[in-house]
Amino acid sequence: MVRKIIIVILSINFVTVLRVLGKHVPAKNRCDGSVELHGKHHKQHVLAKGIDRPYQLAYYNHTHKLFYSYNLEEKAEDTFALAYLDTWNSSKIMEVGGVRNGFATAVDEDGRAVYFGGSEGVYKYHPEGNDTGVKEIVPHVNVWDMFYGNRTLYYITYPRQKLYKLNVHDDKAEPERVASVHEEIYQFALDGAHDMYITNRTGVYRVRNGTDDRIHYRGETMFRAVAVDRKGEVHFAGRHGIFVARDDKQNHTLHEIAHVRNLFGLAFDEKNDIIYADYHEIVKILPNICGK
Ligand SMILES: *[C@@H]1O[C@H](CO)[C@@H](O)[C@H](O)[C@H]1NC(C)=O
Ligand SMILES: *[C@@H]1O[C@H](CO)[C@@H](O)[C@H](O)[C@H]1NC(C)=O
Ligand SMILES: *[C@@H]1O[C@H](CO)[C@@H](O)[C@H](O)[C@H]1NC(C)=O
Ligand SMILES: *[C@@H]1O[C@H](CO)[C@@H](O)[C@H](O)[C@H]1NC(C)=O
Ligand SMILES: *[C@@H]1O[C@H](CO)[C@@H](O)[C@H](O)[C@H]1NC(C)=O
Ligand SMILES: *[C@@H]1O[C@H](CO)[C@@H](O)[C@H](O)[C@H]1NC(C)=O
Ligand SMILES: *[C@@H]1O[C@H](CO)[C@@H](O)[C@H](O)[C@H]1NC(C)=O
Repeated sequence: MVRKIIIVILSINFVTVLRVLGKHVPAKNRCDGSVELHGKHHKQHVLAKGIDRPYQLAYYNHTHKLFYSYNLEEKAEDTFALAYLDTWNSSKIMEVGGVRNGFATAVDEDGRAVYFGGSEGVYKYHPEGNDTGVKEIVPHVNVWDMFYGNRTLYYITYPRQKLYKLNVHDDKAEPERVASVHEEIYQFALDGAHDMYITNRTGVYRVRNGTDDRIHYRGETMFRAVAVDRKGEVHFAGRHGIFVARDDKQNHTLHEIAHVRNLFGLAFDEKNDIIYADYHEIVKILPNICGK
């Protein structure tokens, strides 16, 4: 189903256009057996539908906003824009303008900021400020993916797939290449113990805090998203499932905790409930098991 685009220009300035992109579907729970969490069918709450491949979900808990990027053109693979939906009060989806080819997102809850990456830079956004504009903080960089953790913004450049970090809490700080990650990587994350996780074409590697060894996790190798839950555990969105890295003696394997088809994005809300995107919907997995 093609979403009707309702365009209401709310505010325009040089850098930003915020407009209403569409509407949520009416709050509706689903129990069609299409999602299994920990081996049991769970209820799902459809937050939005009719979005073309929502990638890079990032949840901002203070105002319950879910930021994401999506495909702008049906045929093009690489034309993206940013938007958010208010998961609580409003029925609107708002576009975030001012970021060319806006693709990557990251949230700093404590600093009350959201970061975006596009084909021409890294940008900062205050979701609760009066100023609706995004502010460029790193120019001339094409961003593939982003992660915020350890009070640091990490980003991976495209097409070289190298990892950089920026101390966003010091206005004078410059981005730095993370020299200890020599690999060309697709995703990066830190867990609650500051163990580092990187993914490349071979799969997931964990680098324990204070060491340099790469521990390879067997299993899925293709991921569209990586997200850390509220307890600090890293989750990997594979093509048709959500995985966590578990160690069983010397056996390092990815365990599937949820089976979801055609995954594109992953995030956690303040209650630690999973929010996922498939190729056209954004859905929350509710704690309730179907039939109960
Ligand atoms: C949002 O997250 C921050 C940092 O983790 C926490 O201090 C705050 O209590 C959370 N707020 C809500 C509304 O959950
Ligand atoms: C939702 O709306 C209510 C009533 O208008 C308001 O008190 C509350 O702060 C809003 N919540 C959020 C998360 O915006
Ligand atoms: C927004 O503007 C109002 C009135 O100008 C001001 O009182 C308030 O502190 C501003 N809020 C932020 C987050 O800047
Ligand atoms: C990481 O390791 C360092 C030194 O080995 C330790 O001091 C620190 O507490 C660890 N970080 C976390 C978050 O566990
Ligand atoms: C976390 O930040 C501290 C202080 O900037 C730094 O010393 C430490 O190496 C960082 N940890 C990781 C895992 O990057
Ligand atoms: C991925 O990284 C691992 C660890 O450094 C490395 O052994 C492997 O060759 C890399 N895979 C590719 C395709 O570069
Ligand atoms: C490692 O774990 C996987 C998944 O649980 C299992 O299929 C496999 O047999 C285990 N291998 C060894 C050597 O224990």
